[in-house]
Amino acid sequence: MSSYQALLNNLALNQNSWLITGVAGFIGSNLLEALLKLNQKVVGLDNFSNGYEHNLEEVKSCVTEAQWKNFTFIKGDIRSLEDCKKACTGVNYVLHQAAIGSVPRSIENPIFTNENNIDGFLNMLVASRDATVKRFIYAASSSTYGDHAGLPKVEDKIGKPLSPYAVTKYVNELYADVFARAYGLNSIGLRYFNVFGKRQDPNGAYAAVIPKWIASMIKNDPIYINGDGETSRDFCYIDNVVQINLLAAMVASEESVNQIYNVAVGDRTTLNELYQYLHDNLSPYYHHLAGVKAGYRDFRAGDVRHSLADISKARNLLGYLPAYRVKDGLKIAMDWYVANSTAQKT
Ligand SMILES: NC(=O)c1ccc[n+]([C@@H]2O[C@H](COP(=O)([O-])OP(=O)(O)OC[C@H]3O[C@@H](n4cnc5c(N)ncnc54)[C@H](O)[C@@H]3O)[C@@H](O)[C@H]2O)c1
Repeated sequence: MSSYQALLNNLALNQNSWLITGVAGFIGSNLLEALLKLNQKVVGLDNFSNGYEHNLEEVKSCVTEAQWKNFTFIKGDIRSLEDCKKACTGVNYVLHQAAIGSVPRSIENPIFTNENNIDGFLNMLVASRDATVKRFIYAASSSTYGDHAGLPKVEDKIGKPLSPYAVTKYVNELYADVFARAYGLNSIGLRYFNVFGKRQDPNGAYAAVIPKWIASMIKNDPIYINGDGETSRDFCYIDNVVQINLLAAMVASEESVNQIYNVAVGDRTTLNELYQYLHDNLSPYYHHLAGVKAGYRDFRAGDVRHSLADISKARNLLGYLPAYRVKDGLKIAMDWYVANSTAQKT
């Protein structure tokens, strides 16, 4: 039996109390769904700056009434220490996801990103320390590799940050490390690499590439690839991210704690390949896509050229085995976007 299966069996028998910040967002709402389905007690904190009530409604619709009763929602802001303290009360495990998560947005408004991603993070550390939570798991980011050219990315070799967002995510790691040394707060940082899946927001100027392109293809809107399309990413399906959050929260060995881990699959996909794959799979349902090609425009400021993770540390110390490769996850995600789109098939 895999470490993850053993953990799921164990959790299903033992109820713990969890806090998910950013619970109305993409990753937070998927973590909520997974934990409620395991009969866990969950407190969720969100200020709806980028998250949605409809994400919570969708989770409600796919769990039982009894499971939904295990969920307490707090509308609050991590920039308020009081809100963080309220949310941490009685909690064993914190899964901290709340942040302003976009490179271009941070370039346009670095102060706002800093307030949420650094001040808010520090509040969450203080509140978690004071509530003596067992473990603080937080969303770090592959953007921390910055201008380091080496591939695949290994956790202890980072470069200079390329955006204010990347600075904030690196500062999170530094603060978590200091809180482990100064106060004994156990934490694990998860450097997510381009996560995708259901409930990821396809709308707005700062949408991630996969939901944005799927939605544009469905609506027959034009698609522009930034740069020459050979920029590559290690896209990671959401269920892999859920897996590693639970493994990180529950791992017993001390050497696995107070560490940073890459969270990806170890597959490299270029933007040109991604476009082609989505186009090929959606074309049979949307005939308007026949003969349609992407346009190209300038590279986007702050973007790293290539991103590919070495996931051996997570495999060795957490027992992380991503169950979904990119194409498996894309198929599931496309089905979800098609089912949830109001646009007609043509
Ligand atoms: N999605 C990815 O590919 C990716 C990659 C690397 C890191 N991350 C990190 O993962 C985390 C979750 O990302 P996501 O893709 O689910 O983003 P998301 O925008 O869908 O979710 C973030 C949630 O946090 C909430 N939030 C923001 N500021 C808040 C505040 N001050 N107080 C309370 N709630 C607040 C938002 O309303 C939203 O619901 C973020 O920390 C992000 O930086 C994501």
